[in-house]
Amino acid sequence: MQKIVIQGGRRLGGTVTVSGSKNAGLPLLFASLLTRERCTIRGLPRVADITTSLRLLEGLGALVGDDQFASIVVEARALSSSEAPYDLVKTMRASFLALGPLVARTGRARVSTPGGCAIGSRPIDIHLAGLERLGARIRQSHGYVEAEATRLRGARITLDFPSVGATENLLMAATLADGTTVIENAAREPEIEDLAAALVTMGARISGAGTNEIRIDGVRELGGCDHSVIADRIEAGTLLIAAAITGGEVHVIGARADHLGALLAKLDEAGVVLAAVSDGITVRAGGVLRTADIRTSPYPGFPTDLQAQFMALMALGDGQSAIIETIFENRFMHVQELARMGADIRVDGRTATVRGVAALSGAPVMATDLRASVCLVLAGLAAQNTTEVSRVYHLDRGYERLEEKLSALGADIVRVRA
Ligand code: UD1
Repeated sequence: MQKIVIQGGRRLGGTVTVSGSKNAGLPLLFASLLTRERCTIRGLPRVADITTSLRLLEGLGALVGDDQFASIVVEARALSSSEAPYDLVKTMRASFLALGPLVARTGRARVSTPGGCAIGSRPIDIHLAGLERLGARIRQSHGYVEAEATRLRGARITLDFPSVGATENLLMAATLADGTTVIENAAREPEIEDLAAALVTMGARISGAGTNEIRIDGVRELGGCDHSVIADRIEAGTLLIAAAITGGEVHVIGARADHLGALLAKLDEAGVVLAAVSDGITVRAGGVLRTADIRTSPYPGFPTDLQAQFMALMALGDGQSAIIETIFENRFMHVQELARMGADIRVDGRTATVRGVAALSGAPVMATDLRASVCLVLAGLAAQNTTEVSRVYHLDRGYERLEEKLSALGADIVRVRA
């Protein structure tokens, strides 16, 4: 067990580079199951969720080559299994993205159901209803979903909600279906556009990715790819907020204004000075931190994956702000821990009312999920004295070398054995 120890109160300054996107990288890895040929994916972040996915792909019989993560090569020439087991799926819900590619390629898939998770129940009904529309026979038993189809056939699918994972699963499956698929009410996240771009280089016929209607004309088989993953917009947003919460001045290389519109608008409202430059975004803070209300929603709305970090910032705002979480029903677990650091936050259902305080005070706190853990790190950067964040394995699922990056910007942050 490790923990992160932060001496707060240092203004961040300098330049930092965003890593490749975890959430784009995961579906790209599973897309390699759609082809017998070699897929090279560049720029994947060195985080636990990527390692878990590679273990899963190896378990299915794919060959995985790892050039120190500068590029990862996956070759799923022959698959020896079509089962994604519980011990991997339980640690990472995105393993469920194996379902669509496996049934499309091999006609059969057996994938453990992800089960509950700390931030909400996160069902899989939208994935399954979509695959059934594509002609898969679905059975659930003993904690597993089994899908079977001689060949999937194209269909018009309307998602009940623009689920990111369901859109990705169905997009991948439909590339090898017989005929045309249209996904209506599709998720529009940049990670979906990135996945579609890679699939197109593999020979898939896709239009409309990044809009709410995606059309896929199925093909018989796909070839390999050589694809560089997009920069991680959530890490980029986290670093922008890190600069803002410490009153610092930072150049975030790789941050894309076109992927971060909702956050940038709110930071601007809060009085943080931002400028899009050719290779990223610069951020300058230090004046009065005003407050801004946010409501999470599917892209291009305010991302739920930045809600906790923005709440840490608002905890030090000059007034009151309302933070409404509409995507996950239980994503306020960081509130209690922020309160231990002196934040004044009241939760009523899906709304958290944050009354800004003049200062946060360092305390031992516990991470409960990936984004909650980084929100506590941000709060610690701004707090007086020492903050110790335990259970940092949550952080390691999605942030690459975070302490190193923050230290290079002047933060006093170290990782120690708990
Ligand atoms: C992805 C991201 C995650 C982000 C989330 C929302 C990855 C690996 N993870 O997760 O970081 O927080 O998008 O932006 O990309 N839902 C259903 N039925 C389903 C599927 C989803 O009811 O079949 C619900 C979920 O419970 C949740 C909401 O839809 O309330 C959004 O989930 P979804 O967009 O599917 O998130 P993920 O793909 O799991």
